[in-house]
Order: sequence, then structure tokens, then C-alpha cells
Amino acid sequence: MSLLKVEDVFKLFPVRPDIFGRAKKFVHAVDGVSFSVEEGEIFGVIGESGCGKTTLARLIVGLIDYDRGSIKIKGEEVSEVKRLDVERFRRTVQMVPQDPVMAFNPRKTIKHFLTRPLLLHGGLGREEAVSRAHQLLEEVSLTPADFFLDRYPHELSVGQRQRVLIARALSLNPDLLVADEPVSYLDVSVRGQIINLLKEVHKKRRITVLLISHDLSVVYHLCSRIAVMYLGKVVEILDARDLFSKSLHPYTQALVSSFSVGFGISRGERIVLKGEVPSPIEPPSGCRFHPRCSFATDVCRKLEPKPLFSDGRLVACHLYDRL
Ligand SMILES: Nc1ncnc2c1ncn2[C@@H]1O[C@H](COP(=O)(O)OP(=O)(O)OP(=O)(O)O)[C@@H](O)[C@H]1O
Ligand SMILES: [Mg+2]
Repeated sequence: MSLLKVEDVFKLFPVRPDIFGRAKKFVHAVDGVSFSVEEGEIFGVIGESGCGKTTLARLIVGLIDYDRGSIKIKGEEVSEVKRLDVERFRRTVQMVPQDPVMAFNPRKTIKHFLTRPLLLHGGLGREEAVSRAHQLLEEVSLTPADFFLDRYPHELSVGQRQRVLIARALSLNPDLLVADEPVSYLDVSVRGQIINLLKEVHKKRRITVLLISHDLSVVYHLCSRIAVMYLGKVVEILDARDLFSKSLHPYTQALVSSFSVGFGISRGERIVLKGEVPSPIEPPSGCRFHPRCSFATDVCRKLEPKPLFSDGRLVACHLYDRL
């Protein structure tokens, strides 16, 4: 059964009128996104900066509301559960945020940070909450836990702070963990440790994970399937094993190509992504990728490609008429 089902979800942010008072415009941050994540899976989301990954994550964990569409976790509509029973909702889904510095209150200890959700939504008393925080710190290998409980955020390294964020996200035993770029602020040596920690946590808890990352090697190594986003839309969903060799969408191929070249593992010709990412305020007509695509034809400029599905795979591109 799908643990998470996202169907045709839209989130538009209004842009203020300019100094001439011209009509309001909207940022099309998430623009008709659909996919589902199976129970126990690590599902990846990749795409360039600004394509809507964090907005999608915030919609799923209920930090912001969607304009249209449906997001269901364990068959229940997120907007409804959040409205009717916020405590239960917090126990269903949790997020590891993108920025490990902004996430903390600098004046509060790690103990305060970890016990807060347990006291507010976990139904625990003070003593039980502290003992649970202790166990959580051990789970993320911050030992001796007593030492870390009394520290302030600035006394921890960024990697240690990221571990605390993971511990906090796990504190209410959620069914779904949404990790937004959990390693993007870390240097390479610490990255591997945090990736291994996520792997261990996933294996031990059998928790379902939605993992957002810029780093293709991270999603390749951790995920079973990957969704590729471009300007608010999912353009391809594929098996992680196929990412470097069997992707279909020209955008995925370009991402893979630039990544592989950077790491000196390129085979075949390099595909260069032309130009800048267009603005999500007035996205291009037809296929949004067409101004940067070397295969674009007239139909791509005029008509938005319909997503084709088969066997958990998806591609939205005029180059294909069936999968
Ligand atoms: N609260 C907001 N108000 C207005 N625009 C927003 C808001 N949040 C996000 N956006 C815009 O929506 C688009 C998608 O942003 P989002 O943060 O989801 O991208 P992202 O894929 O997570 O990027 P990055 O990889 O840099 O983290 C961007 O154009 C961004 O400027
Ligand atoms: Mg982001």
C-alpha cells in the first residue's frame, strides 16, 4: 500500500504588484504534482534550486496548505488530519529541515529542543521526556547523551546539529520522515556519516523516507525510486538504479551528464544545459523545459506533455508516445 499519495497538488505564492500597480502574479512553486511513496521505501526528489522541492516538503508535513489537489498519508487527507487532530498528525509525519542553523533557538539547550515535541504532542511527563531524549541522542550516536543534553546549539558542530535534528524528527515515532537536503550544509567527510546514519535509522525503524537532495550520488545510493522536478512539475519518476544509465527525460539526462562530468565518470557525450532556469512566475509555454532542451520541436513549445505511466515509472516528454 502507498504510505504517501500526492495527487495533482498545486501551490502558488502571490507576488506583490509592481510599482506601477500591475496585476498580481504568482510563483508556480508546485504545479500539478503527483506521485506515491510505498511503505518502507526511501523515495528521492531531485531538481535544480528553486524547482519547488522544499515547498513540496512543507506541503506534505503540513507547514503550508495546498491550493488544490490531494495529499494522503496512510489514506488520510493531510489538510483534514491537521485540522482535526494536530497531535496525531505530528506523530504521522516529521521533517528534517534544510537549514541546521536556523532550525534552533540559540538560547535553549538541546534538552529543551528534544523534549518539547514529546511534552507537547507525545503525551509524556517531564522525566519520561528527558529519558526519551537521552535514548534519541544515543540512537543518533551523540554520546555521552548527558553531555549533549546540556549543550547549547552553538556548542555543537554542524554535523552534530544535523544529528540532533534527525533525533528530534524521530522523537514521535513518525510513519514518514521528510528529509530536506539533510547533507547540503555539511562538508564531504561528515556527509558520509549522516548518510550512513539515515541508512541505519531506515533499516532499524523500517520508516518511510522522502529524501530531497541536490546530490545525485546521495539519492542514487539511498533511494529505491526518484522523482525529478523541473519548475514545479515532476518530469520523470524512475528506479534509482536507472538514474545514471536509463533515464528518459532530456532534463534528467542533462542533470546526470553534468554531475558525472564533474566527478570524472562521464561516459558518452556531455549534454550541456543551455541558459538559466526560467522564472517560475511566468513559466514557459508547452513543455517548461523546451527553451533549454536540445530536442525541442514545435509541439514542445505549444503543448504541455501528458505524463506517461508504466510500472511505477513516469515520464512527461513529447519524445515518447508510450512507455
Ligand atoms: N513563501 C514563499 N513566498 C513566495 N515565494 C516562495 C515562497 N517559498 C518558496 N517560494 C518560491 O517558490 C519557488 C520554489 O522554492 P523552493 O524553496 O520550494 O525551491 P527548492 O527546490 O527547495 O530550492 P533549493 O534547492 O534552492 O532549496 C522559488 O521560486 C521560491 O522563490
Ligand atoms: Mg529547498
